[in-house]
Amino acid sequence: MSELDIHQLLDLVNTRQVEPGDERVRAITARIVGDLFQTIDEFDVNPDEFWAATKWLTRLGQADMIGLITAGLGFDRLLDIREDEADRAARRALGTPRAIEGPLYIAGAPLHQHEVKLDEGNEGKGQPLVMEGRVLDVHGNPVANALVDVWHCNELGRYSHFDPDQPDYNLRRRIQTNAEGAYRFRSFLPPGYAIPPNSPVSELFSLLGRHGNRPAHVHFLVSGAGKRALTTQINIPGDTFLDDDFAFATRDGLVVALEPVQSAAGYESLGVDRPFTRVRFDFRLQDALSEDEATPASRYDRAA
Ligand SMILES: [Fe+2]
Repeated sequence: MSELDIHQLLDLVNTRQVEPGDERVRAITARIVGDLFQTIDEFDVNPDEFWAATKWLTRLGQADMIGLITAGLGFDRLLDIREDEADRAARRALGTPRAIEGPLYIAGAPLHQHEVKLDEGNEGKGQPLVMEGRVLDVHGNPVANALVDVWHCNELGRYSHFDPDQPDYNLRRRIQTNAEGAYRFRSFLPPGYAIPPNSPVSELFSLLGRHGNRPAHVHFLVSGAGKRALTTQINIPGDTFLDDDFAFATRDGLVVALEPVQSAAGYESLGVDRPFTRVRFDFRLQDALSEDEATPASRYDRAA
């Protein structure tokens, strides 16, 4: 059979095989290919449009921006919603809400005990911030020696490693909690930021009539012995895009309160010497059901 209509072609694409392959991959690929065939047919996509789309995908990969488009099209939040649903279905005790990792996490940040000047090398930039709290289990017991991996953007909304103008691990640290599960760090209130202009992502967003802004936030990957590693973020209140995040990541319980503090007493070891903004936040970790759940790894490392 050499002459085919659309349905015969789709059937051939999805049924040809010379060895068993992977049943799940075969089934999911068949669904996606079928949906795309249908989309092309229904919208009368012409060859120029199709090949423009494939070129766009190539450029997206070359620019290492697939992790940005997944966030902007809701897939990252979708996965969190599904994890939440799985937790509820399994009647697992819930901890601090999870939030998206984003594409900008880097493993292996310098490790410190109990507290750190996260903003070292960035002094004088932005409004001084101290964030402090404890890592707890779902019953409220402290998790000693837990790891709080924290990262946020610089005053220009850019992240070290991805921005060649910043030193390695700038504004990225890991803090090991003390016996009471306590951590604290000094930094500055980071600004919100937008997707890079003149990029494959901004091209699509302009065609979709969407903005690419994220409200101000700080990312965390929190873990502890026997506890389920938690990827989350806190949002800074008052941001224009707080409820209109390009990545749909704002969640109840993660928008923190900002407390103005006049006296630096008690914060000398963090080098605080003027009025600052304090954020108090406790992380609550679920019990891990497996070693894999307890492993603090980026989503890409986990997938590998
Ligand atoms: Fe971010």
